Amino acid sequence: MRKKVTIVGAGNVGATAAHWIASKELADVVLIDVAEGIPQGKALDLLEAMPIEKRDVHVIGANDYAEAANSDIVVITAGIPRKPGMSRDDLLQTNYKIMSDVVNKVTAVAPNSILIIVSNPLDAMAQAAFKQSKFNRERVIGMAGVLDSARYRTFIAEELKVSVENVTAFVLGGHGDTMVPLPRYSSVAGIPIAELMDAATIERIVQRTRDGGAEIVKHLKTGSAFYAPSAAAVEMVEAILKDKKKILPCAAYLQGEYGISGYYIGVPCKLGERGLEQIIEIKLTPEEEKALKKSADSVKELCAVIGV
Ligand code: NAI
Ligand code: 2OP
Repeated sequence: MRKKVTIVGAGNVGATAAHWIASKELADVVLIDVAEGIPQGKALDLLEAMPIEKRDVHVIGANDYAEAANSDIVVITAGIPRKPGMSRDDLLQTNYKIMSDVVNKVTAVAPNSILIIVSNPLDAMAQAAFKQSKFNRERVIGMAGVLDSARYRTFIAEELKVSVENVTAFVLGGHGDTMVPLPRYSSVAGIPIAELMDAATIERIVQRTRDGGAEIVKHLKTGSAFYAPSAAAVEMVEAILKDKKKILPCAAYLQGEYGISGYYIGVPCKLGERGLEQIIEIKLTPEEEKALKKSADSVKELCAVIGV
């Protein structure tokens, strides 16, 4: 039997994630949105591309959750995106209400699913979904680090004029201005980037990575990034569906790892069929540790505002 992935929020990120999943033939897709006609229209349009793409995948859109029953994975992208001048945190109250509504409905029909949270502010929304779903932490994972690392890898590859395939890089921490790109764990074909670039260039790339979301918002004006974010969420979907045991930076609920307890924050995670199968603890310098704690503090502040 084919796997089923439900995507809640048929907007830019959700619909593009559906596109990636269908074009990779990973699973049948259910697209859900409150906007009438939008998920139905986008799903039918995507389904009609399947003969051309030679992919046997079923895609359906709906406004209610019946079609989501027994989904293996539910990706939640419902919510409002940033507009120019807004930070991710400005979305907090609105998206918290939306997240609560969505998680209630999802858990009722797909109690055994794994949730991948995308809506912003990411770490607080993952925390809200975790608390409300009452799922164990293995089954509620936030997407941000794959995106932030992909941006970092893009900028390194462009700077050095090398294949993106050669570049490995890690970004830890919350998905916000306090994110912690880790140059020490970033390499090109195994060569640490500090051997290939001077400190000022690395710092410029690190800052561009931190500002990566805002850079796209500034261009688009009416919304935020969606190609790379949806590709990032689908890399996580694929790792889980194929039980790849892939190590990816994801937002996970920490229980003492990295000296942090009771909050979602971006850390290296092993993803497989059970969802979050392991949190990998790497050794940080005192400076990196301080930056991670600062990032966790800003997540805590947001969680306190919505009481999760
Ligand atoms: P969008 O506006 O294109 O789509 C959002 C969709 O959610 C809309 O179609 C809307 O009708 C739907 N929606 C609103 N309330 C809903 C509800 N109660 N139930 C079901 N659907 C509902 O926005 P976009 O660009 O797709 O972004 C979605 C979210 O993802 C935003 O919060 C954005 O900030 C976040 N995001 C997070 C990223 C990350 O790295 N974690 C990266 C990119 C976006
Ligand atoms: C991004 O980083 C808006 O969080 C979104 O593009």
